Amino acid sequence: MLRTHTCGALNISNIGEEITLSGWVQKNRDLGGMTFVDLRDRYGITQLAFNMDFNIALCTAARKLGREFVIQISGKVIERISKNKNISTGEIEIEVRELTILNKSKLPPFTIENDTDGGEEIRMKYRYLDIRRNPVQENLMLRHDVAKATRNYLDNQGFIEVETPYLIKSTPEGARDFVVPSRMNERQFYALPQSPQTFKQLLMVAGIDKYYQIVKCFRDEDLRADRQPEFTQIDCEMSFIEQEDILITFEGLIRHLLKEVKGVELNEFLRMTYDAAMQLYGTDKPDIRFDMQFIEMNELCQGKEFEVFDRAELVVAINAKGCTNYTRKQLDKLVDFVKTPQVGATGLIYCKYNEDGTSKSTVDRFFDEDARNAWAAKAGCEKGDLLLIMAGGTQKTRKALGTLRLHLAEELGLRNPEEFAPLWVLDFPLLKWDEDSERYHAMHHPFTSPKPNDIPLLDTDPAAVRANAYDLVLNGNEIGGGSIRIHDKDLQKLMFKHLGFSDKQAKEQFGFLMDAFEYGAPPHGGIAFGFDRLCAIMGGKESIRDFIAFPKNNAGRDIMIDSPSDIDEEQLKELNIRLL
Ligand code: AMO
Repeated sequence: MLRTHTCGALNISNIGEEITLSGWVQKNRDLGGMTFVDLRDRYGITQLAFNMDFNIALCTAARKLGREFVIQISGKVIERISKNKNISTGEIEIEVRELTILNKSKLPPFTIENDTDGGEEIRMKYRYLDIRRNPVQENLMLRHDVAKATRNYLDNQGFIEVETPYLIKSTPEGARDFVVPSRMNERQFYALPQSPQTFKQLLMVAGIDKYYQIVKCFRDEDLRADRQPEFTQIDCEMSFIEQEDILITFEGLIRHLLKEVKGVELNEFLRMTYDAAMQLYGTDKPDIRFDMQFIEMNELCQGKEFEVFDRAELVVAINAKGCTNYTRKQLDKLVDFVKTPQVGATGLIYCKYNEDGTSKSTVDRFFDEDARNAWAAKAGCEKGDLLLIMAGGTQKTRKALGTLRLHLAEELGLRNPEEFAPLWVLDFPLLKWDEDSERYHAMHHPFTSPKPNDIPLLDTDPAAVRANAYDLVLNGNEIGGGSIRIHDKDLQKLMFKHLGFSDKQAKEQFGFLMDAFEYGAPPHGGIAFGFDRLCAIMGGKESIRDFIAFPKNNAGRDIMIDSPSDIDEEQLKELNIRLL
């Protein structure tokens, strides 16, 4: 037996027992008469004690153990003199009688401890060493727990997990596809799925009325902290349901996950339309852990000969509560922040409501005390508050103020990672205008059903058509999105027409789905959650990389296996590919 216990198992109740442990050497401290070794596995760390008086050869061997050597020891559990209350094994140590080196290790390129000295690149190159560290292991365990609880919940609700293929034809989610050349079908390519969207709809036609899958998806898009080229979804679809059924079922899933994995009882899931979210927060994924809603100020700000306000489509403000004590330097920094390319605003106007009842703005020349008090009344500013105002084109200004709102909240410590505030955003627009192709694209995907009352608007005002589409937002992150689908082939045809597909193009790309819809498609709809994102947020982080065992870097590379890479001539020839 290579071990009787793990390195996290032993405590004061095991004193006197003869045990065997195996693991990695984390630290080796030679104190002359005694040598102490910290032995680590994924369950914890146990201190090993080697006594020079007891066995010189053994103690000498222990002194030579290098970091990350794999060893096995046998010995007796004894009480420690200086106890470490921070770890579960901290009251005992092992008086070692036998030591076997199971494998040596090269000196690792960074320290394998909770706080490491390794930078991100080197840790990604040696990811298998990084994963030995507790914080990374904890993230992977959380991911495991979330997957397990997801399967339990959906299984209890009567969902079945069905696998769909990875070598498919292009899926219409709007990003670029990763393609795979086919050797047997010359000059033809598979595409990796951006999501199993069309397959899950076919499963509905097939009568699998509650489907789910924890599934890899592939999208060739620009990477960010919350995006990877391959990522995982909890993908779900249901038949004979309406939007409300989906919202209730999946509110239940998220509640279950937070309860099971984090012990957190969620409050009510608030709901908000897309239009309201844009108007109140300048984004379709508002962080509602804190207030700071937008206040539109056009009527109080325009017509006072201040040109920036007068020529703006929108003048809009947020009230930074209690921030009147911001120094000139801090305020200048905020102004600089909004002017960065990331925010893209031309400036920021502010008004301080001082504790002594006076007020002072950067535009006092145009706005007297009465005007400033009128602003305060509208924006709910009290003594001690700071009003921040932006003006310009509606979309751009909302976006910029939304970014400033998050920035301020971060500065003020209002984004507590241990607090969870879910929000359904409903009634997304069906279509969005694409400047490059000069046509409307589906905001979600082309199978999303318009709200029945809005269908006539498809001809007159396509941008105003709302969809039966919804997103679930958690702490300012879009963790899931879905829609009620079109199940009627004539409506689907009409949608393709409005999306600029000719009959031929629609047939070529989606003929299989339209054919299937001729054979009795039930009303259906679904949702997919970004599994990596959900795990990251539940783990209190915004970057999903730490929750993926082997992630890609920002350039889409796996620097550990050095991929993507060249392939040899022979392979290219077989695939009929000639490189330019
Ligand atoms: P959507 O495109 O909104 O919907 O994707 C669903 C969720 O997947 C996550 N996500 C990502 N996570 C990490 N890296 C990425 N590159 C990435 N892209 C998306 C997000 C998002 O909310 N088929 C539809 C769902 C449906 O209609 O049922 C779909 O894929 O959290």
